[in-house]
Amino acid sequence: MSNPSQAKSSQGKSSKAKTSKAKSIQTNSGKLNLPRIARQRLARLEARTARIGVIGLGYVGLPLSLLLAEAGFKVTGFDIDAKKVDDLKAGRSYIFRIEAKEIKGARKKGFTATTDFARLSDQDAIILCVPTPLTAHHEPDLSFVENTAKAVAPWVREGQLVVLESTTYPGTTEELLIPVLEAGNTEGLKAQAKGAAAERGVFYVAFSPEREDPGNVTVARRDIPKVVGGHEAIATELAATLYEGIFTRAVRVSSTRVAEMTKLLENIYRCVNIALVNELKILSLRMGVDIWEVIDAAATKPFGFQPFYPGPGLGGHCIPIDPFYLSWKAKEYDFNTRFIELAGEVNEAMPEHVVKYVAIALNRCSKAMNGARILMLGMAYKKDIDDLRESPSLTVIELLRAGGAEVLYNDPYLPTVGRGWHYNLNMRSTPLRNLEQYDCVLIMTDHTDYDYAAIVKESKLVVDTRNATKGIASEKIIRC
Ligand SMILES: NC(=O)c1ccc[n+]([C@@H]2O[C@H](COP(=O)([O-])OP(=O)(O)OC[C@H]3O[C@@H](n4cnc5c(N)ncnc54)[C@H](O)[C@@H]3O)[C@@H](O)[C@H]2O)c1
Repeated sequence: MSNPSQAKSSQGKSSKAKTSKAKSIQTNSGKLNLPRIARQRLARLEARTARIGVIGLGYVGLPLSLLLAEAGFKVTGFDIDAKKVDDLKAGRSYIFRIEAKEIKGARKKGFTATTDFARLSDQDAIILCVPTPLTAHHEPDLSFVENTAKAVAPWVREGQLVVLESTTYPGTTEELLIPVLEAGNTEGLKAQAKGAAAERGVFYVAFSPEREDPGNVTVARRDIPKVVGGHEAIATELAATLYEGIFTRAVRVSSTRVAEMTKLLENIYRCVNIALVNELKILSLRMGVDIWEVIDAAATKPFGFQPFYPGPGLGGHCIPIDPFYLSWKAKEYDFNTRFIELAGEVNEAMPEHVVKYVAIALNRCSKAMNGARILMLGMAYKKDIDDLRESPSLTVIELLRAGGAEVLYNDPYLPTVGRGWHYNLNMRSTPLRNLEQYDCVLIMTDHTDYDYAAIVKESKLVVDTRNATKGIASEKIIRC
């Protein structure tokens, strides 16, 4: 790795970029004075000649890099995972829904990947897309953000824009990211503070949450508005201009905290509403009412109702995790986030509910859980994707095995399941045939590819956690 103090700033390399002549620009909140260092970056962002560094080439960072490259930006991806970097350099994809031809197309437009953080000093903007998981004690694990900030700090240059995209609690950008960037900066630069714009010696910082919905093909990624909140007005404007290069609309908010909280509100809203329908599902089962039919009927109301659907438990990197970032932070304010806690309690109990219904279903066939052979359909946490993170299927396998069942799985998107943070399964997807050999077929993920009518026909017993067998009438099906 090169020495940070020897790395040349991209300042002064911009002779070809058109530098905005205006010293001030009109924004929604009034006239904004721009120092020369910000005008240069703004001009390059507007012209899409800017160099953008994306750190963390995972589910968020890689598609973002491809979008930026497609729009004409010169994109360099940074990751500590050398394998991912090698794959991208060779034009290979490691994310199911991203095809190799998209990587190759981006490579032709200048997209490259590296593990060498020294190259950050050449970027006009740096976007951080690193993980924000929970610790074993259900507390925010900001070590990835902190370590990345430490690795970035020596390479930050005057006038650069640094944007955090990782989902986190309000205050992270100001309380963690900025202090680490300032402390580790070899040039003694400071984040531009609110108030008069400094002519020299500053960089700009913003937060902009990611809103990707894996597997959603109804909304084009670029049509999802992008919320942007700067540490101060210039950062907001620079970040909004950057994202307007790839998204139809940037939504400017007044601070990084507002942007951070916006993402949490969106995910808490989903988490609480899913918990509500999960609880109502359990009640409806006792009452002999079909909750899915109820939801479909309620969804015909043209105002004031948005449908959420029950399932076997929450999964993915966002909904099971993000709300706890806020409940942890709330304790600093002596505040108990009761909705979040209750929703967590209901949602986390769903895998046990599923296992209870498998036992009930087996019992109906005079079969015990102990010794039963069960085929689980779907390992991914939601349909038509290959993402296993926090999948309730992992918990359900553990619970079924604890009850003495032999569990196999089939998932067209996940041919093998090895080892993760919370599991060590070493399983391989079983071909979907001879279904009569299983005591129970358990539908955990409603992948579109499955032929549910054929599955029901061939199976002895089907437990359906997703209403995937809707419209199929059979005594063999137990919906739960
Ligand atoms: N996956 C989603 O659908 C989604 C949606 C919205 C928001 N988010 C949020 O976006 C953030 C990133 O999530 P993701 O799903 O892309 O995670 P991911 O695990 O798929 O990717 C993160 C990448 O960061 C890399 N990384 C980790 N530490 C690093 C470091 N110090 N320097 C450089 N690279 C490093 C990892 O190697 C990995 O490639 C999280 O905060 C998440 O909550 C994710």
